[in-house]
Amino acid sequence: MTVSPIELIKKIGSALFGPAHPETAEEVLPEEQSEEVIPGPASEIPSEPLIETAFESEESEETEETEETEETEETVPAEHESSIPSGSMSDIPGKRESIVPPIKEGTKMRVISVMNYKGGVGKTTVTANLAAALAKRGKRILLIDLDPQCSLSFSFFHRRDWRQKFSETKTVKNWYDAFIDKDFNCSLENLVVDPEVPIKGEGILHMICSHLALINIEIELSSKLSGSSERELRNNYLRVHSRLSQGVKSLKGRYDVVLIDCPPSFNIVTTTAVTASDYLIVPTIPDYLSTLGIDYLNNKVEDLVETYNRYVDKCDDPEFTHINPLMMGVLFNLVQFSSGNPIRAQEKYIDDVRKKKYPVFEIMLRENRTFYSSSSSNPLPAVLRRSVGPAQQKVVNEIEDLATDILGRIES
Ligand SMILES: Nc1ncnc2c1ncn2[C@@H]1O[C@H](COP(=O)(O)OP(=O)(O)OP(=O)(O)O)[C@@H](O)[C@H]1O
Ligand SMILES: [Mg+2]
Repeated sequence: MTVSPIELIKKIGSALFGPAHPETAEEVLPEEQSEEVIPGPASEIPSEPLIETAFESEESEETEETEETEETEETVPAEHESSIPSGSMSDIPGKRESIVPPIKEGTKMRVISVMNYKGGVGKTTVTANLAAALAKRGKRILLIDLDPQCSLSFSFFHRRDWRQKFSETKTVKNWYDAFIDKDFNCSLENLVVDPEVPIKGEGILHMICSHLALINIEIELSSKLSGSSERELRNNYLRVHSRLSQGVKSLKGRYDVVLIDCPPSFNIVTTTAVTASDYLIVPTIPDYLSTLGIDYLNNKVEDLVETYNRYVDKCDDPEFTHINPLMMGVLFNLVQFSSGNPIRAQEKYIDDVRKKKYPVFEIMLRENRTFYSSSSSNPLPAVLRRSVGPAQQKVVNEIEDLATDILGRIES
């Protein structure tokens, strides 16, 4: 028996959220669409591990509530929990005053996507800690969580706060929903929320959260790619793929860096991040499977850029312009050091990547489970901890060095 993609998504929705849950696929996909033929590759439907992760995190919520006592000293200041903005619970995008900073003349806002087809390589960890390190230096940073697993969102907000305050009206899903529903009142800046992280000075760290049901947007975006003529197909392709870019452009001058945390796949939502980006950072573990994914990712990016720019050339709408996302570098993470060098088993893979055409960051991030671990009561990125021991200071230094390196490249 074959199951259509729509039915599959509905089943996944029910399995994830239960029939009565407000975020079910049933509600996201109107009934009349259920017979629609969906173009687009079936392989882009999120894979099982992704679904299981989201499901497991839902399950684990009960335990999260009881974990509060496990807090250690090196944690988020007590004010963090109560400092999550409260006024946003009943906000409606478009109605609320935006919290985005004013435009600073002369700002060259840079958009960086952190991506890898491979899961668990540290994309979210790198994004969160890099953002915090840059904000601590006085930079205005906007984080965008594009992963339906919501790991980045839950690195800054407690899950229950996310659910109560943001899940309905203040996530990146609203941005894609507005596109699908042709709602022109939604502006990206009204989706920006403030995790109020303890950063002294002028730095700003804002965020657009993700949504567990972003998984459903994928198939709806695919349906928007269809067209009855070549011209219509081309225009629809450009419209869908530039959706995030159009929103991000509207924030020009308000942030120094926009950092986008991508899901571990190259789905349509991920491609909207690529087209919005000036740079790509590809964290990877120096092992066989993780480094294999780099070639795959690179080919996908090249194909996307080639197709997008070819369509731009044929399109007379000045709204669409060429894209040129540069691979800033492969960033080795979870590196095990021995006598100051990566262990031999990892060095081989590092050398293999260096021999290829990709740029590789000089800085590598060591494996340190204690430092990078977080608990539900302490969701903030490790680099924001108030005090660290000498061993962990090395880890902080690596992130700081990475921030320096990246700033050097984007500000030159
Ligand atoms: N340098 C490191 N040392 C120790 N643990 C790390 C390090 N980097 C990441 N981790 C841990 O590895 C796990 C996966 O990291 P993370 O969630 O950032 O990966 P990811 O690539 O974003 O995963 P996904 O593809 O599922 O989004 C997390 O538990 C994180 O705390
Ligand atoms: Mg992640």
